[in-house]
Amino acid sequence: MDRFIIRGGRPLHGEITIGGAKNAGLKLLVAGLLTSERLVLTNVPHIADIATMESLLRQHGLTVETVGGDKTKLSVGGEITSTEAPYDIVSKMRASILVLGPLLARCREARVSLPGGCAIGTRPVDLHLKGLETLGAKITLENGYINARAPNGLTGDRIVLPFASVGATENLMMAATLAHGRTEIVNAAREPEMVDLADCLNAMGARITGAGTGHIIIDGVEALHGAEHRIMSDRIECGTYACAAAITGGDLRLIGGNVDHLGAVVRAFEEAGVEVTQEGDVMRVRRTGALRGIDIMTEPYPGFPTDMQAQFMALLSVAEGASMITETIFENRFMHVPELNRMGARINVHGSSAIIRGVHSLSGAPVMATDLRASFSLILAGLAAHGETILSRVYHLDRGYEAVERKLAACGAQIERVKD
Ligand code: UD1
Repeated sequence: MDRFIIRGGRPLHGEITIGGAKNAGLKLLVAGLLTSERLVLTNVPHIADIATMESLLRQHGLTVETVGGDKTKLSVGGEITSTEAPYDIVSKMRASILVLGPLLARCREARVSLPGGCAIGTRPVDLHLKGLETLGAKITLENGYINARAPNGLTGDRIVLPFASVGATENLMMAATLAHGRTEIVNAAREPEMVDLADCLNAMGARITGAGTGHIIIDGVEALHGAEHRIMSDRIECGTYACAAAITGGDLRLIGGNVDHLGAVVRAFEEAGVEVTQEGDVMRVRRTGALRGIDIMTEPYPGFPTDMQAQFMALLSVAEGASMITETIFENRFMHVPELNRMGARINVHGSSAIIRGVHSLSGAPVMATDLRASFSLILAGLAAHGETILSRVYHLDRGYEAVERKLAACGAQIERVKD
């Protein structure tokens, strides 16, 4: 297992190119199941979760290959030979559940392992299943697997989601593209990734309107065809590096960053004393004055993203005054708190809220990553801390961030990867 060794205390200056979005790319790859023709994706991030999704698609019989030796360009295509998503892949990556809707829509049957809980919460998939049942699927749970059948195909209907689940909206949107008639998804998730997925599906011949709003309408078509689509840039990667500029008192130009996708995050930065500007396709983030404590509550988009919570926790741990962060999306997403406290932060958790009393400085320590975003909060703390931080279990980070050490080192960070 690799570790990172970080020597903190240097402001970061320079440019970082933001890669394609993990949370869009995963679903766009899955969209390849909806057609027998070739779907070509560009701006593909080189991260472990994408590799896991490629393995899953290959297991379904698809060919996934790079185009012209360019590892950021992938082509997905071929016939589906297996409608089963096995436990060993689904348990590794929960987003595997996204194949359920497309397999069911195209092959009229699917068998997908039930994802278990994960480090940040129990994460049930009931909304995915209820929505597919509304479209006419017969679903049974047996031996840890979801067995879904729709012998005559799916039929469009009105689905009201009790919670704007990202994954359920995407699964249902993909399934509905090949259903008979019209599907409406009410209280749909509104994340920018939803718009990216709908744009790609529409380029493949789907008829979707309203993506990015709480009301998505999908008119089913007979078949989808091949297309080429560029994956949107990763707003969470962008927000994460913005935190690196902010916590070190630096100045970073984030190429491909888009403030329009980060409204609530930009407002939080500004309130905390961090300057954020858009200059063409570059988001510039700098801090010259002191950091101020602020209160944050995570919410579905356009609210403050839960995927930025851990990084802001690190940032606010060195802000003047007290801050409060309330996590409303996942029930167990404060695993980074004890690790940050070991570095000198003063954070107390009470239920779903954390009170952060800002300290003047953090000190380097050996710490352990617990999940993807929590890992980066510890890197951020390490970049600001005096002395050396050794971060173990870096594999959590490699799931979703590409070339972290190279991107940070190019801006002046002292960070190296040590292979065991
Ligand atoms: C996606 C993102 C993840 C992000 C999350 C919230 C991907 C691959 N992952 O996860 O990075 O943190 O959105 O922005 O895109 N829930 C149910 N029943 C369901 C589905 C969800 O109770 O059927 C609950 C979950 O347990 C969780 C909440 O709803 O507490 C949010 O889940 P959801 O929006 O579905 O997130 P994901 O799609 O899993």
